[in-house]
Amino acid sequence: MMKLFRPDSFRPHLLLALGFLLVGIVLVNLVIFDKTASPAHFSTPDIRQEESLPGGSSSIPYPAIASLEIPSPELTDSAKSLFYAGKALAHQPWVKAPTATTARDGLGPLYNARSCLGCHVKGAKGIVPDDPNKPFTNGFVRLSIPGYDPVLGVIPEPTYGDQLQTESTSLANQLGLALTQTGDGEVKPEAKVFLQWQSYIQIYPDGSAVELRQPKIDIRDLGYGPFHDVTLFSLRNAPAIHGMGLIEAIPQSEIDALADPDDSNNDGISGRVNLVWSPYKDKLIPGRFGHKASKAEITTVVAAAFANDIGISNPIFPQQPCTSKQAACLNSITGNDDLGYEIPQDLLELVINFTRNISVPKQRSFPPKGRTAFYQSGCQQCHQPQFRTGKNQSFAHLNDQLIWPYSDFLLHDMGDQLTDGRPDFDASRNEWRTPPLWGLGLNKQINGALNLLHDGRARSVEEAILWHGGEATTARTKFMQLAAEERQQLVQFVEAL
Ligand code: HEC
Ligand code: HEC
Repeated sequence: MMKLFRPDSFRPHLLLALGFLLVGIVLVNLVIFDKTASPAHFSTPDIRQEESLPGGSSSIPYPAIASLEIPSPELTDSAKSLFYAGKALAHQPWVKAPTATTARDGLGPLYNARSCLGCHVKGAKGIVPDDPNKPFTNGFVRLSIPGYDPVLGVIPEPTYGDQLQTESTSLANQLGLALTQTGDGEVKPEAKVFLQWQSYIQIYPDGSAVELRQPKIDIRDLGYGPFHDVTLFSLRNAPAIHGMGLIEAIPQSEIDALADPDDSNNDGISGRVNLVWSPYKDKLIPGRFGHKASKAEITTVVAAAFANDIGISNPIFPQQPCTSKQAACLNSITGNDDLGYEIPQDLLELVINFTRNISVPKQRSFPPKGRTAFYQSGCQQCHQPQFRTGKNQSFAHLNDQLIWPYSDFLLHDMGDQLTDGRPDFDASRNEWRTPPLWGLGLNKQINGALNLLHDGRARSVEEAILWHGGEATTARTKFMQLAAEERQQLVQFVEAL
């Protein structure tokens, strides 16, 4: 019989070899650990005067900022009055059709909010409720089932479509009554969305601790029966909307130059371009707007927001937000004009140009050491500081500007902790577009809350950094290894951008 272990044949040189092997493994581990944990090798560029004007010549001074809906100071007087006309259209609530004044009717019949600024609160981010029994209304849940469609980017959930509309024009919904009270022929809301929070404690190497919280989507009052068995859900909070025209003016070649899909430079970071459908060009082109960069042009973003978020049909998306399984919705009276739109081309353009021309705040003061800590942690690998905008923009002030958005507008795998499990065009479940950081620190002052990351889970810059995983793991580790005072300085730098 064979013995696995024979003490009589045990030889000292074998023991020695085993010893060397163990020492070797420990050394290799130390080297690997050291590689990820070593202090940064990034150099910090000298401070440039232009950095304090993130939006180039369109930047506006700090004390004037009570909202993020201020026109670029470079706009001509006539363009400014058109900006205010667009702002009014983005602000005033839309109403149910039919009404005597046809200019503002056509809301819904399914919708998420009555106006753009109902979600982009004062032009800043949406507010996410802490209270698990308060509905989430400043954003929405996107829905799909597995698969891909080149125009939609996803296969919509068969009954509810690709966005869950939590409001409807029915009297019962408007009065806050139960679904069962919905009158015959009236349209039920698709559901109500609440967020249940789960807490985690993250401990720094220096022993200090931070509480993080993660939302669980809690969908109540489903109006049209159960979801498809394999429905994928993505919770999206409304981002801020300043500087959009400048972002649009960045030449695609500049963004492409930052992409490294196969990580050929071996830095652990592989920014990717999302290819998304353009209703103008009738083909797939690189996206740069939205949390997964699923939209390429501001016009498409705004027209899609009218159609899906407010239920306002328009020349780009002329359909009502109803699926073939929602008969009452399909049969509802619309606010369509003779051409079949609830908002005509000229008014749509006013809102598009309002969105395009919102200025970016000037940088506020920060400790210079925080800037160094930002660069040394490698944040700029994705939060690309500056770009120069192209020429030939529709508004002169957007041309040839040195801007500082702190984003590469590329997709990055941010790890399993931030996943939504739902692909969107080429973006995988774990991938998100790097969001611009300019003006971020003013959110709290403007709308009273700071809800960062795609679903608003992070209540501070610190929490947002601690959620970074995947390709950003090294940056998070470096941040965590800073002294408490340096971490605070880095946060103050980000809040001042
Ligand atoms: C129900 C809430 C809601 C309403 C109403 C709404 N939005 Fe949004 N908006 C969002 C969310 C959520 C996103 C992110 C979408 C995504 O990830 O694809 C977004 C994205 C955007 C973006 C892209 C921002 C970026 O950083 O890429 C712009 C611009 C925008 N909305 C403008 C508008 C305009 C203009 C209107 C009115 C026509 C509007 N929105 C109505 C919630 C809303
Ligand atoms: C690998 C790329 C990458 C690196 C490196 C990186 N980030 Fe990010 N960052 C992202 C992406 C992508 C998101 C969006 C994630 C989401 O919405 O879930 C994000 C989100 C954020 C946000 C929230 C912004 C908002 O508007 O919600 C902050 C703040 C932030 N990052 C700061 C930092 C800092 C500071 C560092 C360095 C310590 C850093 N990031 C390193 C890619 C990166």
